[in-house]
Amino acid sequence: MTSRPSIAFAKFAAPKKGSVFVLAADDGGLSEAARICDPAKTLERAFPVADFSGKFASMVEVLAPEGTSLDRLVAVGAGKLTGLDDYAWLKLGGTIAASLRKATEVAVVLDLPGVATGGRQAAQLAAGILLRSYVFDKYKTKKDNGDGQNDGQHDGKKAEPKKSVKVTIQTTDPAAAKKAFADEVAVIDGVLLARDLVNEPANMLGPVEFAARVSELEALGVTVDILAEKEMKKLGMGSLLGVAQGSPRGARMAVMQWNGGKAKDSPVAFVGKGVTFDTGGNSMKPASGMEDMKGDMGGAAAVTGLMHALASRKAKANVIGVIGLVENAVDGHAQRPGDIVTSMSGQTIEVLNTDAEGRLVLADALWYCNDRFQPKFMVNLATLTGAIMVALGQHYAGLFSNNDELADRLTSAGQATQERLWRMPLGTEYDKLIDSKNADMKNIGGRYGGAIIAAQFLQRFVKDTPWAHLDIAGTAMGAPSSEINQSWASGFGVRLLDRLVRDNYEG
Ligand code: BES
Ligand code: MN
Ligand code: ZN
Repeated sequence: MTSRPSIAFAKFAAPKKGSVFVLAADDGGLSEAARICDPAKTLERAFPVADFSGKFASMVEVLAPEGTSLDRLVAVGAGKLTGLDDYAWLKLGGTIAASLRKATEVAVVLDLPGVATGGRQAAQLAAGILLRSYVFDKYKTKKDNGDGQNDGQHDGKKAEPKKSVKVTIQTTDPAAAKKAFADEVAVIDGVLLARDLVNEPANMLGPVEFAARVSELEALGVTVDILAEKEMKKLGMGSLLGVAQGSPRGARMAVMQWNGGKAKDSPVAFVGKGVTFDTGGNSMKPASGMEDMKGDMGGAAAVTGLMHALASRKAKANVIGVIGLVENAVDGHAQRPGDIVTSMSGQTIEVLNTDAEGRLVLADALWYCNDRFQPKFMVNLATLTGAIMVALGQHYAGLFSNNDELADRLTSAGQATQERLWRMPLGTEYDKLIDSKNADMKNIGGRYGGAIIAAQFLQRFVKDTPWAHLDIAGTAMGAPSSEINQSWASGFGVRLLDRLVRDNYEG
């Protein structure tokens, strides 16, 4: 079992015990504060032989030589000091967290020549430590032998909770660091909530259970409405309900409102695909890899995590979150290829492939959101297509938008947080491909451009409201692990959209 590190900030002082991490710039030398640590000279002597030159995120360490009270002294390369942006500090935190081992007490000394480390720097580094330390191990009951694998034998004992590591970050201005960290920790909690929701298996988290998790946000001051089938039926959400009808588990729509802005300001809105499991329905998916479809609610998880973050840090903005929660399963009631459903917009849809279900859920969620709240803009997130992974791999999410300003703001937020977006095209030529002989549209197009076709479909449900669609199929789950994430679920979208709101829509 893993527990979350506790973080504190302090002034520079020589630590007496535990592990100590100090920074070294790429000119190689240790800073002043680092030198007051006991075996600093020994550490510096190791630089040439360890070929350590302060290169960003490289490391060298000295283990408790005789005569010192510390367990370990580690130098961490900070690289070129001019290149230290927010994400660099986050990565440094992640790199340090990866090397904590069994330490229970750790000091991190942030002293670099001419660099203030007391504000966002220390806060981001602390955030990196928390993000990297996240492990989804709530269903492991066996003792961990330290290599991350369970021992073969079950001794009948519950795994003992690991002792939480206490991390003290020494900076030029601990008070400023503490203040910046208070906001940052709200965002990190949002990311970790999103990861938890995505990692959770579908037997434990269906639409009803997900909705219950959303209701917990009320404790933070978020207004939450949960719509059940009856209300959705009344509203005419035939598109969303058609997806849900093959599952014995009910469908839900969760509507979250955070009113931190001025009363007269129209809200910004985030909409998420929440398919708690996607079998493909009657157009069933192959068995291999289907287990990943427990994460087909990554968009809804990101919206929920974002609302958690914004409410926790009391963002000065009015923000709506709407998520459509269904299970795409198969029984005798499941919808068939060729079925025609009527969406809340009144537009009819010929369902030619029951596995193209996310767009059917979002069609009603987007329409409802636009209709009820008249938001300034809508951004939807969805693990929508395999095609976006073919196009972009797993390092960028696809961005589709009818509004250049919104697209540019999202792209900038993506650069700043390194939750990167790549803009993809929309156009009438693509839109034509979903015209249907038998209804207003069909839910699939031809063989090519699958991610674009899905986006065109969504655009038919947003009218002229500024809108962006983020296809996060490649980035929300199963993406390559990084300095700040080792878990299957990444929580992609929470840091990105928090940044979008923070930089453009507050105060
Ligand atoms: N949830 C899937 C998309 C997906 C695939 C997400 C792999 C993450 C990893 C979506 O509902 C889906 O099945 N899309 C189909 C659409 C097709 C039937 C037009 C796809 O991408 O194959
Ligand atoms: Mn599908
Ligand atoms: Zn899906």
